Amino acid sequence: MNLLEVKGLKKSFVEKKAVFPAVKGIDLTIAEGECLGLVGESGCGKSTTAYMVARLIREDEGEIYFNGKKLNAGRRLTCAGRDLQMVFQSPKDSFDPRYTVLQSVMMGADSYHLWGRKELEKKSLELIEFVGLKTAYADVPVMNLSGGECQRAAIARALLCDPRLIIFDEATSALDVSLQAQVIQLLRRLKRERNVSFLFITHDLALTASICDRIAVMYAGRIVEVGGTKEILDQPVHPYTRQLLASVLPVTADGSYRFPVMERLRETEASGCEYYDFCNIAADICAKKVPGPREYRGREMRCHCL
Ligand SMILES: Nc1ncnc2c1ncn2[C@@H]1O[C@H](COP(=O)(O)OP(=O)(O)OP(=O)(O)O)[C@@H](O)[C@H]1O
Ligand SMILES: [Mg+2]
Repeated sequence: MNLLEVKGLKKSFVEKKAVFPAVKGIDLTIAEGECLGLVGESGCGKSTTAYMVARLIREDEGEIYFNGKKLNAGRRLTCAGRDLQMVFQSPKDSFDPRYTVLQSVMMGADSYHLWGRKELEKKSLELIEFVGLKTAYADVPVMNLSGGECQRAAIARALLCDPRLIIFDEATSALDVSLQAQVIQLLRRLKRERNVSFLFITHDLALTASICDRIAVMYAGRIVEVGGTKEILDQPVHPYTRQLLASVLPVTADGSYRFPVMERLRETEASGCEYYDFCNIAADICAKKVPGPREYRGREMRCHCL
């Protein structure tokens, strides 16, 4: 059964009276115990998608189902509760600097009144240790921690709620390699032992290989290719996925690099495929029509030319 199902999710932002679409209608599913990787370059809409799923911002259009229940049913932003937790991209900003590590870790679960004070404190200290922070840090103000330490505290805070889905928004980027490996091991264990699901947002494709079951590749507000991790990494098919894996920036005729997403996103009038200008297999139709999702070699794809 799908724990999370997202249908036709859209979000535009207004900036200096200009409306530009950040997320242009995306569909996602995550099964119980599954880890879905969401990859794509900076600005393509990954965090915006995560914020909508976690009900931190309201979508313009679309439906979000979590555990069979529609999350965006009413006009108010209703959170999914303890079952859906998020670890944020910038660890420091996700804590109130006035509190200690222990207080910060306890705060989320405390609001759900799951346990008494003593029990809550005991579980928090266990988790603080579990994520690799010394328990002596418990009484240190959270603002004194380094980026990596803060991220570990954020992971402990999410785990304390015993969630069924955790959104990791670049949550391992601030960590050094050995700690990254520890966190990945921890996630794998949670997946295996507690059937926890993950939406794992990352730039780092090597990391997806070690944790994700499937990968969704996002480009300029759309998901252009979804498939099994091995298939996507071994045989990328969409021209953008191939470029992403080759880690090369498209070069213009005069030899300078271009950043496709930032340019295309702001072109609200664009009617064709967002990747048109940078694609090496584009045809005339690509400039005129946005490719719809379709099945190609066992994965879902948005491309006219494959
Ligand atoms: N609150 C906002 N107001 C205006 N524009 C926004 C807002 N939030 C995001 N955007 C814009 O929406 C686009 C998508 O942003 P988002 O943060 O979702 O990208 P991302 O894929 O998470 O990038 P990164 O990998 O750098 O974290 C960007 O162009 C960004 O500038
Ligand atoms: Mg982001």
